[in-house]
Parts: sequence; structure tokens; C-alpha cells
Amino acid sequence: MSTPESTPARNEPRIALVTGAAGGIGAAVARRLSEDGVKVILADLRADRLAPLVAASSSSGSAGAFAALEVDLTDRASLPDFVDRAREVFGGLDILVNAAGLYPSAPLLEMRDDQWDQVMDVNLSAVFSLSRAFARRLVDAGHGGHIVNISSGASARARRGAAHYCTSKAGLDMLTKAFALELAEHSIHVNAVSPGFIEVDSEVNPLGEEYVRKIRGGQPWPRAGVPDDIAGAVAFLCGPDASWMTGASLSVDGGAGTGNAALPLS
Ligand SMILES: NC(=O)c1ccc[n+]([C@@H]2O[C@H](COP(=O)([O-])OP(=O)(O)OC[C@H]3O[C@@H](n4cnc5c(N)ncnc54)[C@H](O)[C@@H]3O)[C@@H](O)[C@H]2O)c1
Repeated sequence: MSTPESTPARNEPRIALVTGAAGGIGAAVARRLSEDGVKVILADLRADRLAPLVAASSSSGSAGAFAALEVDLTDRASLPDFVDRAREVFGGLDILVNAAGLYPSAPLLEMRDDQWDQVMDVNLSAVFSLSRAFARRLVDAGHGGHIVNISSGASARARRGAAHYCTSKAGLDMLTKAFALELAEHSIHVNAVSPGFIEVDSEVNPLGEEYVRKIRGGQPWPRAGVPDDIAGAVAFLCGPDASWMTGASLSVDGGAGTGNAALPLS
């Protein structure tokens, strides 16, 4: 027997706002949702990087339309207006994917307060402010929806040079649960995807060669993670098969969370 949702979802086609959409994972999420027929608003600080993605989508004949909006997520006071602008683009919003993120390296003893603050601002505080603004609009509009936060395996496993990053993602996992708890009565699903190491060619978040080699070596699954691996998990969480999922964090990490595959037999 099926149970009706307390607050109905809107009729298709759905509309998504994806932050960090000029980046490796955000762009893949946007493409995948578009292939699934979702209209997608790509949002990023680097607006110049969004225009080619919009152009490529119109020529590829993707099912869902693309539009681009510039946003600085650290300007938190502007985020409610930003959500309103996003709603005007296609006439509503159903899905928010928080994929913007920073993962710079700074050893703990040398880390400055502003380095700490910048990572916490983008990876955690902005997600709170943007998700709250998004959820308020959905509640006012009287329909449900989805928030998907891109967390990290680093939320559970500390690593050198990343005290700010690991702490921000641990906070994001709890924020996911807290939002899920309070928004369930409004039929707003709030889940996270927790990627392992995903190969992206990022100018914003460059990684050292030695680090990349070692992290690859510790992964059990014998191929590198790619942005589409994460996009598939996001699409699943926003789809009908996840209709009874909220507050979950889905690890998509080639088994990295199970242990270190590079260790020799004991
Ligand atoms: N790549 C990985 O291995 C990996 C692993 C685990 C988690 N993640 C998470 O996935 C998400 C995406 O990472 P990625 O690897 O695609 O990185 P990326 O550098 O390719 O993309 C990050 C994007 O965020 C945008 N951004 C940064 N600050 C912003 C701000 N103030 N306002 C608006 N946009 C801003 C950047 O412009 C960039 O386009 C991040 O949250 C990251 O922590 C990545």
C-alpha cells in the first residue's frame, strides 16, 4: 500500500539549482540532471566558466534546459535574493545541490584564521544560509523538494593539512541530518553524497602530485573516481527510488572508507 506524501512534489519537469557548477563535480551533476529532464540553473563564482556549459548543453540537445547565474556564496546576506532570482529563471525550484567547495592545504600549526574562515564560510555556513533560503521558498510555495550536499570522506577521516576542510565536512554531515529532521514534515528530502578522491582538473583546488599518487594507491577499487560517479548518486537521491531517504550520507568512494588498500599483509 502506498502512503501519500504530506506535501506534494511539483509536477515535472523539475528545476534544480547547482552551486559549484563551473567545477568538476558540480558540472557533472548539472549535466546528469539535465539528461534526466531537469531544468538546471548553474551557479558559481566563476561566471565566465558557466557560459560554455550552457552553450554546450543547447547544442547537445539535452532534455532539460540550462541557465547560468553568478553567485558569491560567501556573501550570505545576498543568498535569499539569489534564490528568488534563481526561481524566476524557469518559474520555480525543486532541487538544490550544494557542490561548491574549497579544499586548500594548510598545516595546522601554520593555518591562519582567515584560511580557516574561508573554508568554513564556503563549505558550511553558505550551505546553511542557501539551504535555509531555498527551504523557506519551498515551504511558502507548499511543495516538497530535495537538497543534496556534496560532503566528503574527509568528514570522517582526518588528514594532514586539512583541519579546516575535514571539520567543515563533518559539520556538513550533521547539518544534513539537522535539516532532514526539521524539513521532513514539509516533504523536503535532505541527503549528502560523500565522495572519495574524484579526478577533477581544478584550478580552484589544485592538489600536489605526491598526494594524488598516494591517495590513488590507497583506494581498493581499481579505477579512479570520476565526477559522473557522484552525479549518478545525486540523480538517484533526487529520484523516485530514494523517496523514503532523508538525512543519509551516501559514500561513493571506490571503497576508500573501508580501509587503506595500500597497506601490506600484516
Ligand atoms: N574532487 C574530489 O576528490 C572531492 C572529494 C570529496 C569531496 N569533494 C567535494 O566536491 C565539491 C566539488 O569539488 P570539485 O572537486 O568539483 O572542485 P572544483 O574546484 O572543480 O569546484 C569547486 C567549485 O566551487 C566554486 N566556488 C568556490 N568558492 C565559491 C564561492 N564563494 N561562491 C560560489 N562558488 C564558489 C569554484 O569556483 C569551483 O567552480 C566540493 O564541495 C568538494 O569538497 C570533492
